[in-house]
This record gives sequence, structure tokens and C-alpha cells, in this order.
Amino acid sequence: MASGYFEYLRDLLIERSGLVLTPDKSYLIETRLMPVALSMGYQNIEEMVQVLKSSRNETLVTAICEAMNTHESLFFRDQVPFDLFKTLILPQLLKRRADKRHFRIWCAACSTGQEPYSLAMVLKAATAKLKGWKTEIIATDISHSVLARARKGLFSQFEIQRGLPVQMLVKHFSHIGEHWQLNQDIRDMVDFRHYNLLTEPKLLGMFDMILCRNVLIYFNVETKTQVLSSIGSVLRDDGVLFLGSAESTMGLTDKLWPVEAGCGVYRHSHITSCIADALETKHFGA
Ligand SMILES: C[S@@+](CC[C@H](N)C(=O)[O-])C[C@H]1O[C@@H](n2cnc3c(N)ncnc32)[C@H](O)[C@@H]1O
Repeated sequence: MASGYFEYLRDLLIERSGLVLTPDKSYLIETRLMPVALSMGYQNIEEMVQVLKSSRNETLVTAICEAMNTHESLFFRDQVPFDLFKTLILPQLLKRRADKRHFRIWCAACSTGQEPYSLAMVLKAATAKLKGWKTEIIATDISHSVLARARKGLFSQFEIQRGLPVQMLVKHFSHIGEHWQLNQDIRDMVDFRHYNLLTEPKLLGMFDMILCRNVLIYFNVETKTQVLSSIGSVLRDDGVLFLGSAESTMGLTDKLWPVEAGCGVYRHSHITSCIADALETKHFGA
């Protein structure tokens, strides 16, 4: 690889999206950026980077970040978070928020929408209990293209086969050509917005539950620490945070503690009681 352009792209990606590109992953530059270079009218990546170095074309920078990020997602990914939400966290929210009849969930780094839509389907099944309640699911991502796909709620047969129970497919999707589209009532339950995790989250408001899954793994320690601090600042005192199965707050912050090792749920460490209390009671008989 031409010297200079790996370093240039590595620095650009860290600065813009937090993505860490280690030399062993440099092959990704070739496979993911060659199509971008060609579609933008350049002969190769080197020429594209030369142009970028002389003037920062924002459209090109965005296209590079979007192509280099991994957008892999699936319905009910890892299953446990969604089971915990349905059986323990939602009942707690119904109790703890009974005065305002309102709670807010944030799916940070939502990719093509499978994660927030999985939550929406769980909430839909609880419609009777939620009568008179306002429930919000805000789903954000840095990538405009995945957000556009997510808003359409259109999924391929392959995506549908990954994690979606057949009863949910029958109940909530319509077959459109070779794709499956989520019905409008479920799509309307999710508010997709553009948001970069490296920026200030206060404008999004406060949340009772946050899912930030399978994105911290791509960041360095400094960025992970900064993002966890931002997330903690918009998580209600008794709220809960879900991280991905390969992610943790350990060594990054002592302000967010695991509720129970292994299940990916975290809480503010300074609070004695939280929405996930039932989880500890269930597992430890406390
Ligand atoms: C692997 S997907 C995870 C999707 C979903 N959370 C899940 O677990 O299935 C990671 C997503 O993080 C997004 N992402 C990467 N860097 C980001 C940043 N700085 N701010 C917001 N989203 C980011 C990517 O665009 C991508 O869609």
C-alpha cells in the first residue's frame, strides 16, 4: 500500500467516527474504498486520497467513513437483552414511571434498524399494558445511508432469516417483491436521527434505557471512555445501559457498573436502586 495514505485514512477515520484502523486491517481499505474511489470518478484510492489531502471534500469524507464502518446487525441480536427487556425491565419501567406514564429508549449506533425495531415489536406485544403511555425509541447512527434504509424498514430474505421469529414475520411484515417490509405501525414507533457518538448527546434528552451495542469494539480506549461518559450523562439515575457481548465498562469508567457480570447490563454506580434491580433479585435471590 502506498506509504502515507494508510496513515492519512487512519487519522481521518479516528477523527470523524472514532474507528480505529490497525495495520492488520489495512486490507479493508482496498476492499471497501476501491468501489468508493471508482464511483467518485477516481482511478484508484491513491488518487482519491491525493485530492482529499489538497481539499477536504465533505461528501467524499462521508462516503469513506460510511464504507469503512461495519454495519452488521440482526433482529433480536444475542436474544438475552430482548428477553430481559420483556420480562424484567419493561415491568420495572411500568412501575417506576407510572406517575408520568412515559419512558424513553435510545439505540445508539442502530445501523439498519433491526435493534430498535426488535424493541418496538416487544413493546407492540405489550400494547394493552401500555395504554395511555407515551413510549419513545430514538435510534441514531453516524451513517446517513443506513438510516435511510432503516427508515424504510425494508429487509432482504437473508436479513429476515437472522434472528426474527416466524410469528413476528407473519404479524409485522409484508412481502414486497424480493424483500420484506415492516408494517407502518412498527416503523412509526422508531424515530431515526443522525448522530455521531463523538459529539455532545445532551440535545437528545434523557433516557431510561440505552443500548450502545457492538460499536465500542471499533474504538480506542480514549474514545470508548469519552463515549461512555457522554452516554452516562444522558442515562437517568435509575436507568440501564446495554453494551454488546464483547464490550464492557471495565477499565474505562467507574461510574457505570455491570448489574451482573456477563449479561451486558450496566447502571450508574452511585445509585442504590435501578430499573434492573429485578434482574439482580432474579439471579442472586437478593
Ligand atoms: C456493527 S453496527 C451495530 C448495530 C447494532 N447496534 C447491533 O448491535 O446490531 C455498528 C454501527 O455503529 C455505527 N457507528 C460507527 N461509528 C459511529 C459513531 N461515531 N457514531 C455513531 N454511530 C457510529 C456504524 O455506522 C454502524 O452502523
